[in-house]
Amino acid sequence: MPNKIKKIGVFTSGGDAPGMNAAIRSVVRSCAYYNIECIGIYRGYEGLMEGDFESMDARSVKGIINKGGTILKSARSKEFRTKEGRQKAFDQLNKAGIDALVAIGGDGTFTGALVFNEEFDFPVMGIPGTIDNDIVGTSHTLGFDTAQNTVVEAIDKIRDTASSHNRLFFIEVMGRDVGHIALNVGIAGGAEEILIPEEDLGLDRLVESLNKSRKSGKSSSIVVVAEGDKIGKNIFELKDYVDENMEGYDVRVSVLGHMQRGGSPSCFDRVLASRMGVKAVDSLLEGKSNYMVGLMNNKMKLTPLDNAIKGKTKINLELLRVSDIMST
Ligand code: F6P
Repeated sequence: MPNKIKKIGVFTSGGDAPGMNAAIRSVVRSCAYYNIECIGIYRGYEGLMEGDFESMDARSVKGIINKGGTILKSARSKEFRTKEGRQKAFDQLNKAGIDALVAIGGDGTFTGALVFNEEFDFPVMGIPGTIDNDIVGTSHTLGFDTAQNTVVEAIDKIRDTASSHNRLFFIEVMGRDVGHIALNVGIAGGAEEILIPEEDLGLDRLVESLNKSRKSGKSSSIVVVAEGDKIGKNIFELKDYVDENMEGYDVRVSVLGHMQRGGSPSCFDRVLASRMGVKAVDSLLEGKSNYMVGLMNNKMKLTPLDNAIKGKTKINLELLRVSDIMST
């Protein structure tokens, strides 16, 4: 493949996600395949500004495809949001002779990459890595599938104790602004109700629905709540409200938190990461820049970075209906 790119830098940034290591491995091995140098950049934009770099060859990424987290570490950087910070990063890249970047992360990562590209005309390619699945231009972000499986396992366990004690559990799952995880795990975990930011169920309807199911003979219930839900109360206030307004249940809260971001990536995420890494390197070598690689209809697709960060992915309304019918 004819090209002028000889050295590619790769980094992970923002919240980590299972599959990031598999994506790093794929970028490193794709570079090795094309005989170009790959430089690992530690701690995202922080390491980029400090020149925290290490050369990576094909063997340096052995044994990581199955590992959660990111061997390159991750960070959310305030300094990179400043012009001075980005200038520092540009200087470090020049010093190291790096002529293109692969950025693995979510919308914050891509926003930084986009500004950087606009200021310095530096070739960048994005790989969407976040458990939230909130990036436009891909049906799945890296880590989304694994996180869902982790949460479903947790819900199954909570259900065991919920049914032993006739309890109603509110389970909070991640998803800063979107309800993708909540909606899917709610269905897979047999939740009574799913509260997501995209739909305002309202407190009265929630209590009404829980009362109805209690009267229909259910002795325990699970309500999955996306952390970004806009019902107007945090999960503990929600619990108190339901405790005061309905009888028959002992109510408990379980906030799953960061355990959702850890663990060995699923087969789906490993394959997706491998495909995305190859596509990112191929695209840079073809002279493309300022795109994110994504999965659409089981094909790799490029989306301009500015489109990827515009707006939020829409939830599938059919899933809401399925959830309603299943909780009958
Ligand atoms: O964006 C991924 C995510 O895990 C969100 O679901 C969550 O709101 C956020 O990151 C948590 O961020 P931090 O790890 O900085 O607390």
